[in-house]
Amino acid sequence: MSIRILGTGSYVPEKIVTNDDLAKLVDTSDEWIMQRVGVKERHVSEGETAADMAAKAAERAIESAGLKGEDIDLIIAASISGETLSPTVAGMVQKKIGATCPAFDVNSACSGFLFALDTAVSYMMRGYKNILVIGAERLSKLVDWTDRSTCVIFGDGAGAFVIAPGDGYLSSKLYTSGDNSVIEIPSFGGSSPFYKADLKHPYIFMDGQETFKFAVNKIVEDIKEVTAAANLTLDDIDYVVTHQANIRIMEFASKRLKVPKEKFVINIDKYGNTSSASVAIAFDELNRSGRLKRGDKIVMSAFGGGLSSAACVIEW
Ligand code: UT7
Repeated sequence: MSIRILGTGSYVPEKIVTNDDLAKLVDTSDEWIMQRVGVKERHVSEGETAADMAAKAAERAIESAGLKGEDIDLIIAASISGETLSPTVAGMVQKKIGATCPAFDVNSACSGFLFALDTAVSYMMRGYKNILVIGAERLSKLVDWTDRSTCVIFGDGAGAFVIAPGDGYLSSKLYTSGDNSVIEIPSFGGSSPFYKADLKHPYIFMDGQETFKFAVNKIVEDIKEVTAAANLTLDDIDYVVTHQANIRIMEFASKRLKVPKEKFVINIDKYGNTSSASVAIAFDELNRSGRLKRGDKIVMSAFGGGLSSAACVIEW
């Protein structure tokens, strides 16, 4: 027993911030951002929380699955930017969509959605029927808007799948190497009478070049491994949906894997890097484009903070 994807949904806040808008805040340019990262614009929350966006993406996924909120029997959300550790993003979504099922969050930064999906597959094997899996981020509240090396990259948004029993999850891989020297994302760090907090990185910290090296190695290795584990060759893969961190990472993967760029779903230009939401948003756009047909093989791959990476192959 494995899973099939019954419905997908995504949501981004209305406000669009262009590269030219950012050039008024920091010393950067549309040309640099397009050439080095591939982002043209990103959507930024003007107050909506990760849970608000998650609920909207979830409602769209539930609708596309032909279900109602009360039909969902488990919710797993991936996020690094919820307003509160408790209630969780998944818990807030449960209330907003009118479900009464268990709900919990997982955190594996930009790989989080694929970790959540893999967790959901295990629960499906235990008899759950309709599981809602979400990636949702309000990164704009974690970014230092005076730091040009990070503020031009990230964006806000959410994506969601509803999964049901099936046989469409062909293989998967999860990877973690606990390390805070390359990427560090802060959480609340208050002082007490007995301890004075000394937050080294009050905002998202990323050593861009080291992360880039990690990303290009992992994306290639993981996609090869999960494809082989599914008893497929790369020629059998119809679409590649990866974390949207940098257009150059996807181009590099396309060359190294010899998989044509046309098979890669690319939307980084519109949304930037939305961390755990990015694979789910890209997959939803692929689904809604009407290009998917029954039997298509799709590889998903993500990488980032942790350091972590994850990949899987599904059959549509
Ligand atoms: O989601 C988690 C996974 N994340 C990733 O996979 C991200 C991986 N890393 C990257 O995508 C890239 O490393 C970045 C986009 C973050 C940076 O691109 P880069 O080509 O590695 O640039 P760099 O950090 O090596 O900086 C090159 C130059 C520097 O100037 P100097 O020292 O050569 O004079 C930077 O100060 O570019 C400068 N720079 C900028 N210039 C204009 C850095 N940010 C900017 C900017 N605008 N926004």
